[in-house]
Amino acid sequence: MLAAVGSAVGLGNMWRFSYLASEHGGAAFVVLYLGVTLLVGLPVMLAELVVGRGAQRSPIGALEHFGGPAWRPLGFVFVAAGFLILAYYSVIAGWTVRYALLALFGGFDATIAQRFGEIAEGADAFGFHLLFMAVTVGVVAIGVTRGIERTALVLMPLLFLLVCGLALYAATLRGASEGYTYYLSTDFSEILSREVLTVAAGQAFFSLSLGMGAMLTFASYLGRDQNLPNASLVIAGSDMLIAFLAGLVVFPLIFALGLSDQVSDSTVGALFITLPQAFAGMGLAGRVVGFLFFAALVVGALTSAISLLEVVVSATIDGWGWPRRRAALRMGLAIALLGAPAAWSLEVLDVMDHVANNVFLLGGGLALSLFVGWTMDDPVGEVRVGAEGVRWFFLWRTLLRFVVPAVLLFVLADAIPDTWRSLVGLLSGD
Ligand code: TRP
Repeated sequence: MLAAVGSAVGLGNMWRFSYLASEHGGAAFVVLYLGVTLLVGLPVMLAELVVGRGAQRSPIGALEHFGGPAWRPLGFVFVAAGFLILAYYSVIAGWTVRYALLALFGGFDATIAQRFGEIAEGADAFGFHLLFMAVTVGVVAIGVTRGIERTALVLMPLLFLLVCGLALYAATLRGASEGYTYYLSTDFSEILSREVLTVAAGQAFFSLSLGMGAMLTFASYLGRDQNLPNASLVIAGSDMLIAFLAGLVVFPLIFALGLSDQVSDSTVGALFITLPQAFAGMGLAGRVVGFLFFAALVVGALTSAISLLEVVVSATIDGWGWPRRRAALRMGLAIALLGAPAAWSLEVLDVMDHVANNVFLLGGGLALSLFVGWTMDDPVGEVRVGAEGVRWFFLWRTLLRFVVPAVLLFVLADAIPDTWRSLVGLLSGD
């Protein structure tokens, strides 16, 4: 459970959520994101947990267990998604490490917001990306030790407290109310935008670690006494809470510090532009809180990165019979190299993120909902195990069979051509 929450809560909640919300109209995005999380994300989460716990093996084998060899290719798509996501995720995690060190050594000053570009692109970004990948590989190679679990157990609540504290601090700033308005008050005509729905759906899947078998892999370690519906609620609930709180920090700061311009130049960096600027204005306290904040974020990123690499590594161990250490080392190296272009160009990073979310995660979620909703034998019987008191199985099955595929098809029909265009745009070097 802790590992699953650790996987879900990561850079997605803070970095990705806040930049997407600022790029896509604030509140309209937030409302759609919450709706998609509840109506689409939660049913898919439970579907992954059911398949994983029922099969007790990693994604490729689990799909084959319940669906026969025809479903194996989906497992390969999952592994490819893990590969792609970790490659750029680790680059952003590298920025986070850099910011934690900057905070510690007093590097946050008035110019920090302008320095984002130089921190985020180039040899430095690549170096910190390699460092972060090395640590991730180390943990996965040893197996997820109790060390990392304990660190997460301390630092995740600390992250939560820090985010709460920062939200309170942000509330005291002049100009904060404009931020709240942008974040929380909706223009209902914008909610009806298909583009925002697509982005919100991608974010829901990314933030909940869905659509590529990560939750499935964790569930394969669960016993049959576990209550899966409750687990899905706890994971999704804590994930949404952290994301929502992150918005309560970032938006008041963007408006109070007058950073809207810099943020709109590089929306991807919203979090990395606003927060350090706020810390820079807080003197010594900013140094301490800034360091703690980015350190906790590094830990959140690490537990998420571990889950991404674990999907790839467990597939390599099962499929090719490699020992764990070799699998972690070689796959980690390949992923680190794939991340190089993202470390040198924010635009490449952005496109990788689009492809991963809009195609792989949403497509993977669609395939999984069809699999569990329509072809798997008695999924409801399987969820019921360990959750006898729960009453919403029928609702779950109905959502999974009809609502989830309908929403995902609608969204994918928009997302795939859009992603294709951004890919072509990047390759043709415009
Ligand atoms: N959910 C993580 C975050 O919010 C990222 C992540 C970890 C992920 N494992 C995943 C995303 C699997 C998609 C699939 O930062």
